[in-house]
Amino acid sequence: PAVEYGLEAPFSIEYHDAITSTNDRARELATDGASDVGVLADEQTGSRGRLKREWTAPSGGVWLSTVLRPEVAPARAPLYTLAAAVATARAAREAGVDARIKWPNDVVVPVDDEGGYRKLAGILTEMEGETDRIAWLVVGIGVNANVDADALPPEATSIRAEAGDVDRRVFVQRLLEEFDRLRTDLEGVVPAWRELALTLGQRVRVERASDELVGEAVDVTDSGALVVETDDGRETVSAGDCEHLRPR
Ligand code: BTN
Repeated sequence: PAVEYGLEAPFSIEYHDAITSTNDRARELATDGASDVGVLADEQTGSRGRLKREWTAPSGGVWLSTVLRPEVAPARAPLYTLAAAVATARAAREAGVDARIKWPNDVVVPVDDEGGYRKLAGILTEMEGETDRIAWLVVGIGVNANVDADALPPEATSIRAEAGDVDRRVFVQRLLEEFDRLRTDLEGVVPAWRELALTLGQRVRVERASDELVGEAVDVTDSGALVVETDDGRETVSAGDCEHLRPR
């Protein structure tokens, strides 16, 4: 059963103690015409990551999906994913975690100077629309908040492990305020993202379904795609095409 979460947030929040996937519930609400709502759960039993991967979502995390109906072209949808990553990283930094962003959508904590990291949060954006117009966007944000690291996959970390528990209500409020600011200033998203980026300047290997690229990650385009300088010249990789991005 859903209850009101009682936040001052710019999104009205439907809260569940446990749910299969907040993205699935948000998609239902989106299909029914909702906008500017969020679905939040303490625990998810069937949550999803990018590229049909599983996502571990034990009790104590921040499992949140927002429904937006922005009047922009679908090509701009990746900016909302970057905005969610920026908002999440900023909220985590306020909680005392050295959160950075690994392109396109991972909020990570660096573990060395060679690009090594542990994952703190991930974003899964789903969209419906025509070629010229987005009907709705569901931006799903999963943050390993008040969770023991040993309840998570080995390459993951949590706010608890890095800095101690947060007040999740305050954390969600800050995250959503920041997300709301960024979505109304899409031009500011990539510059804000650059400031937190772990990826830029790194040598990376980008694995796509059909091939892989090795080179230096030199920039992010205005629409959120990564520019990689390879031996054969510059290539632009869209987030949707990237299966893995690894430091080299
Ligand atoms: C990824 O890094 O692959 C993205 C993970 C996204 C997980 C979040 S948790 C809230 C929302 N509900 C889901 O089922 N997935 C997203």
